[in-house]
Amino acid sequence: MQVLEINDLKELARRRVPRMFFEYVDSGSFTESTYRANEAEFKKIKLHQRVAVNLENRSLATTMIGNDVSMPVALAPIGFGGMQYPNGEMLAAQVCEEMGIPYTLSTMSICSIEDVRSATKIPFWFQLYVMRDREFAGSLIDRAKAAGCGALVLTLDLQVLGQRHKDLRNGIAAPPKWNLSTAAQLLSRPRWCLSMLTTRRHTFRNIVGHARNVGDLGRLASWTNEQFDPALSWDDVEWIKNRWGGKLILKGIQEPEDAELAVKSGADALVVSNHGGRQLDGALSSIAALGPVVDRVGDRIEVYMDGGVRSGQDVVKALALGARAVFLGRAYVYGLGAMGKKGVRTALEIIRNELDITMALCGERDVLNLGRHNLVEATLADLR
Ligand code: FNR
Repeated sequence: MQVLEINDLKELARRRVPRMFFEYVDSGSFTESTYRANEAEFKKIKLHQRVAVNLENRSLATTMIGNDVSMPVALAPIGFGGMQYPNGEMLAAQVCEEMGIPYTLSTMSICSIEDVRSATKIPFWFQLYVMRDREFAGSLIDRAKAAGCGALVLTLDLQVLGQRHKDLRNGIAAPPKWNLSTAAQLLSRPRWCLSMLTTRRHTFRNIVGHARNVGDLGRLASWTNEQFDPALSWDDVEWIKNRWGGKLILKGIQEPEDAELAVKSGADALVVSNHGGRQLDGALSSIAALGPVVDRVGDRIEVYMDGGVRSGQDVVKALALGARAVFLGRAYVYGLGAMGKKGVRTALEIIRNELDITMALCGERDVLNLGRHNLVEATLADLR
């Protein structure tokens, strides 16, 4: 199969990865309305086409929290990455290093902070979920510091878990549990099964052995209810900022009021995000939430976004609306599931190529010049 767009990688991932892990990615909470809106609402926005503009010497380079990046794209934190492909997080981090963009490791990763550190030479970013057991949260921060992580990405939108029906039906777990249904899922994907024999990393290595009683998502759900702190507040953000002492990015901001509080907290950047439609079902799509947040705080803090980005055209639209950069979630995870390291690289090359061509056809030579003048104003009215 010729791979030309992110959807091709999604199809290949569907064929290679057992259903429980493929659908863990391809799902949203409850009715999945926000999951679908994230992708669909990008399509409502139309771009102005300009012609006869000199388009030589184009540049996609920019900075994120002061770091040079080769394009305005980072990889989002993704749980269970190492269940898409053996050592998945280590491979994805290596591709980011080669391509000059940030990689964010999830708290709920299969490969640990130390695993990814040993597989890379330049700093990656670490995403933190706040645990009720503050000493455990603190120990994760300390481990990220010891690994030289370049930023802490603090996820604020998972104080309670949005339910995904597919996960419950499929019986997802890491490592997988064997029963008739899961055996059928796993054995129908023999290439995946064989590849998984090549690694000993099959569970949450940031947590197992560090926190007690966590092995699978069934356990994880109750551990989450016990450990993910529903009482999390802005005071905790301050505590975390002080304990970490480095660059802090707040993820999961959708409303201008919360963006204002993010600025007050002293964070370096925020990510407009609804967790890829996996938390509040019925929330605004991220692209719809982006404009009002930029209008309120864009002159005081770097604003990034994620959710539904599947093409370079989507990246252009987010940047034109005022995002400094986007994070890719599923777009790269499908590549990882399809072909491991090569698939992540292919996903990023697809996005980079589409971004470059689309920017050029808008009559722009530099991503830093994209702005609302590139967007057909009337099509934005539809978003709220
Ligand atoms: C996520 N996301 C996520 N976010 C986070 O802060 N920590 C995590 O462990 C995870 N895990 C995770 C797993 C999977 C399979 C998905 C799809 C998403 C949310 C993620 O970082 C990001 O916000 C969304 O993926 C963005 O939406 P798209 O690009 O996937 O549509």
